[in-house]
Amino acid sequence: MNKLIAITALSLLAGGAAQAQQDPRALANGICSACHGPAGRSVSPVFPRLAGQQPAYTVLQLQAFRGHLRGDPNAQAYMWGMAAQLSDETINALADYYAAQKPVQEKIGDPALIAEGEKIFKDGIPAQGVPACASCHGTNAEGQAAFPRLAGQHVEYLTAQLLGFQSGLRSNAPIMLAVVRTMSPEQIKAAAAYAASR
Ligand code: HEC
Ligand code: HEC
Repeated sequence: MNKLIAITALSLLAGGAAQAQQDPRALANGICSACHGPAGRSVSPVFPRLAGQQPAYTVLQLQAFRGHLRGDPNAQAYMWGMAAQLSDETINALADYYAAQKPVQEKIGDPALIAEGEKIFKDGIPAQGVPACASCHGTNAEGQAAFPRLAGQHVEYLTAQLLGFQSGLRSNAPIMLAVVRTMSPEQIKAAAAYAASR
């Protein structure tokens, strides 16, 4: 995905905004699908999958993009402009639309990595003060309310977000900064791989 598509999508959004407010499904299957894929089942790991995501989480993220609170470089480049055009009503309807789509099954063929990730996901890393991911994201990484679904997400996207919390690039999530603060890159990769593969 490149700048040209982003710009085209933005101008489509600006032009179609009035109509789109009435029809979030058309918005999702039009502009949003250019990056997030049909029904939110994206192919490129730069673009997170939205299919099956918890609606409360999606609402919070779209509000955070619109309010310029989630400000890592990809969020700024791709989502600030998109979200600027969305009303609260449209945001709620988009979140409900994506929540109703069937999530993707993400296959990861590295049993040793998955086993290490499973331990972190279920038990945390007590010696490093890392809590169990499952305590918030659910036993099967299905998420709940403001805790996002991680199951079926691109592992590269999850890893990038965890590194972003740690470095402060995605700075509006103090809970996740506390979770990942002491984790090594290998531990992050393992936890992301397990969560994505649920
Ligand atoms: C030009 C590409 C592009 C378009 C078009 C686009 N997005 Fe995004 N979107 C992205 C990227 C890239 C990210 C990841 C940002 C990051 O890494 O922080 C993202 C992130 C998101 C997230 C956060 C997901 C998560 O798991 O945290 C939501 C929700 C979202 N987009 C919804 C939408 C909706 C709804 C539309 C249509 C109105 C849309 N996007 C259009 C590129 C796009
Ligand atoms: C105390 C609750 C809590 C725990 C424990 C927790 N998380 Fe989170 N996590 C959250 C919340 C809340 C968010 C949403 C942050 C936001 O709104 O930006 C989140 C977001 C994420 C995201 C970003 C998802 C996306 O779609 O962008 C990833 C990846 C993630 N968590 C992975 C993990 C992993 C791996 C662990 C275990 C090592 C973990 N989390 C433990 C609460 C938690």
